[in-house]
Amino acid sequence: MKKIRAAILISGRGSNMKALVEAARDPDYPIEIVLVVSNREDAAGLDHAKHRNIPTLAVENRRYCDRESHENAIHTALVARDVDLICLAGYMRILTPGFVDKWPGRILNIHPSLLPKYPGLNTHQRALDAGDKKHGCTVHIVTGDLDAGPAVLQKKVAVLDNDNAKSLAARVLEIEHRLYVRALAMVANDMVLQGDGRELRQ
Ligand code: GAR
Repeated sequence: MKKIRAAILISGRGSNMKALVEAARDPDYPIEIVLVVSNREDAAGLDHAKHRNIPTLAVENRRYCDRESHENAIHTALVARDVDLICLAGYMRILTPGFVDKWPGRILNIHPSLLPKYPGLNTHQRALDAGDKKHGCTVHIVTGDLDAGPAVLQKKVAVLDNDNAKSLAARVLEIEHRLYVRALAMVANDMVLQGDGRELRQ
């Protein structure tokens, strides 16, 4: 089975990355994870990728003089691995339009809110403060505007009366893992149908 080659970008814990890595171990899953990149070398998620023998790379933003040169280093690593699709999984840096334009429609992100509600940070507290009865998460295509690209899939959870930001975040995180696995497979299957992976085009 020909697979879409995906890289995952993380900044920390990497539980979404882990979910994608585990899903991709299934021979029928249409994705091969070919690289995990972190902008922090102490990101806990890197250990799990290493454990699964997935190549990892820390490209520490603090070692670069500006955003562009940091992103260029990541871009070079992705191209070197023949990456078709980039999955942001708790990657806590905003990508510049210059980088996004090099990967049109080829960057996915998971965001812990029902976009277009609550782009940016502190989404769980903001949902609680607004008295929302439903909260959730969204997998979307990344565009040049923060957390604003078209949604691939969205999943809701009920907000409970006794929820705080921590309990709500934990429940949303659980559904994030399943949603990202499904959304990534959908996007990849679409790319396979269109012959739109580097390996498939050869
Ligand atoms: C996840 O909840 C993800 O949705 C969120 O960061 C967390 C990362 O957890 N991402 C964003 O807020 C991006 N705007 P993880 O490292 O365990 O996957």
